[in-house]
Amino acid sequence: MPQEVSAVIARERNAPVEVTTIVVPDPGPGEAVVAVQACGVCHTDLHYREGGISDEYPFLLGHEAAGVVESVGEGVTDVAPGDFVVLNWRAVCGTCRACARGRPWYCFDTHNAAQKMTLLDGTELTPALGIGAFAEKTLVASGQCTKVDPRADPAVAGLLGCGIMAGLGAAINTGGVSRGDSVAVIGCGGVGDAAIAGAALAGAGRIIAVDIDDRKLQTARRFGATHTVDSSGTDPVAAIRELTGGNGADVVIEAVGRPETYEQAFYARDLAGTVVLVGVPTPEMRIDLPLLDVFGRGGSLKSSWYGDCLPSRDFPMLIDLYLQGRLDLAGFVTERIPLDGVEEAFARMHRGDVLRSVVVD
Ligand code: APR
Ligand code: ZN
Ligand code: ZN
Repeated sequence: MPQEVSAVIARERNAPVEVTTIVVPDPGPGEAVVAVQACGVCHTDLHYREGGISDEYPFLLGHEAAGVVESVGEGVTDVAPGDFVVLNWRAVCGTCRACARGRPWYCFDTHNAAQKMTLLDGTELTPALGIGAFAEKTLVASGQCTKVDPRADPAVAGLLGCGIMAGLGAAINTGGVSRGDSVAVIGCGGVGDAAIAGAALAGAGRIIAVDIDDRKLQTARRFGATHTVDSSGTDPVAAIRELTGGNGADVVIEAVGRPETYEQAFYARDLAGTVVLVGVPTPEMRIDLPLLDVFGRGGSLKSSWYGDCLPSRDFPMLIDLYLQGRLDLAGFVTERIPLDGVEEAFARMHRGDVLRSVVVD
């Protein structure tokens, strides 16, 4: 039977979000209905609300979630009712060119549930990133569910579903940070701090946190930053060079998503160093770099998409490290809020007051 549950939707461009009743269908082939236990508030949800991602209103927001599988459709064998899962927005196909080449994190054919959740009047909802988890229950493709250790706090586990994984993966997967490397992270919100935590996990030597907000630099230390640079008054490139024996960092991670910080990242890396772009730029942003500097400095310029993660490989491993006390995932949960607190949480996120607000049931 289709179920009626409470959920947070964005009905039209720039209108405040609202809590309303939605209809969740029974899972069809390859689908699962998940009882959501926790879902983090991310910039992407706000971008949907503001119309920056698509015009397919109404949106069912929320996508950094964990919960328990309630029911599965025909042919689902990877998860079963009762499983504790973290949701992901890139369920890989396993057969496309990227998957066939053994690089499933670049999968060109990721999938979501085929059926639509609706409003009571039958209006189809567009779930944020194919998830839509500011809801008591949601419908996803079974491949979007990754089983993890059920001893994990759902509010903590759900954060792996997006921004925190993006940051951790930018350091561990894309940046390939290894023992003793010097790492600089520009922008220390949730994503940048996760990159710092990832660099620490990988055994980096110096970890230099850069931000224009001094409060953020204090928090960055908690996740493993060994040095901090307030770039509101200092040239961060010079500061990073000075902290790395005049050389620049082996890996520089840009976690803001702006041309000026990308340029800083480019010049703050050592010869043959790696720059990782994890901050998401807008379509009109441009950079203008002398080609000779690209050539002369060598190394590599990479972007990191969803931390180049493979949920089935990375989520259980990171949850295990968190349960062992070796990864401070809980530190990213600034506050727990009810379903009707999302609009206010957007305001706190916008002001930079929180790493992550998490909706819990
Ligand atoms: N130089 C250094 N830091 C900056 C600058 C700047 N010019 N401008 C902003 N910042 C800092 C902010 O002070 C803040 O601490 O960047 C941080 C951004 O953090 P959040 O706004 O919390 O964003 P976060 O969730 O971490 O995401 C960062 O990654 O995945 C993407 O879409 C996401 O583009 C966004 C980025
Ligand atoms: Zn694929
Ligand atoms: Zn997100």
